[in-house]
Amino acid sequence: MKVEFEVNGRPVEIDVAPRTTLADCLRQQLKLTGTHLGCEHGVCGACTVIMNGAAVRSCLMLAVQARGASLVTVEGLSHGEDLSPLQAAFRRHNALQCGFCTPGMLTTLHALLTREPFASEERIRDVLSGNLCRCTGYIPIVEAALDARSAYQAAAGSDHT
Ligand code: FES
Ligand code: FES
Repeated sequence: MKVEFEVNGRPVEIDVAPRTTLADCLRQQLKLTGTHLGCEHGVCGACTVIMNGAAVRSCLMLAVQARGASLVTVEGLSHGEDLSPLQAAFRRHNALQCGFCTPGMLTTLHALLTREPFASEERIRDVLSGNLCRCTGYIPIVEAALDARSAYQAAAGSDHT
């Protein structure tokens, strides 16, 4: 089946089998392998991408369900070689160890902080509870998210000018 959507600002038209998940489509057909697959059951959050501004689990979605959508994967967060403020905060706080969970953490937090740039620590922890990390503990991840909030607040402020 033909499906058209946009990924990281780029229009895509692709042939997929009806049962192809969005995760497999992104990783195998579009070679966007930053989206990771852990549980493939909607539990771990490693496969999280942003669809029309909302964090979604790409292992639970079919590629055909993304028809017409605007998608952002972890590859779309940075601008060329420059890390996004959230990515830079993860690096500053050493908010990763093996890094397998990191793409899902980044996309989840990017979706949250774009919508809620003043999100409280409690809110951040609540949203992050859907993303499992088995290496670092969550303290540096939460600290990185709190640190990055000012950049999202500034971006939201400039949107209103
Ligand atoms: S791989 Fe999708 S939630 Fe775990
Ligand atoms: S850094 Fe390894 S699972 Fe999170």
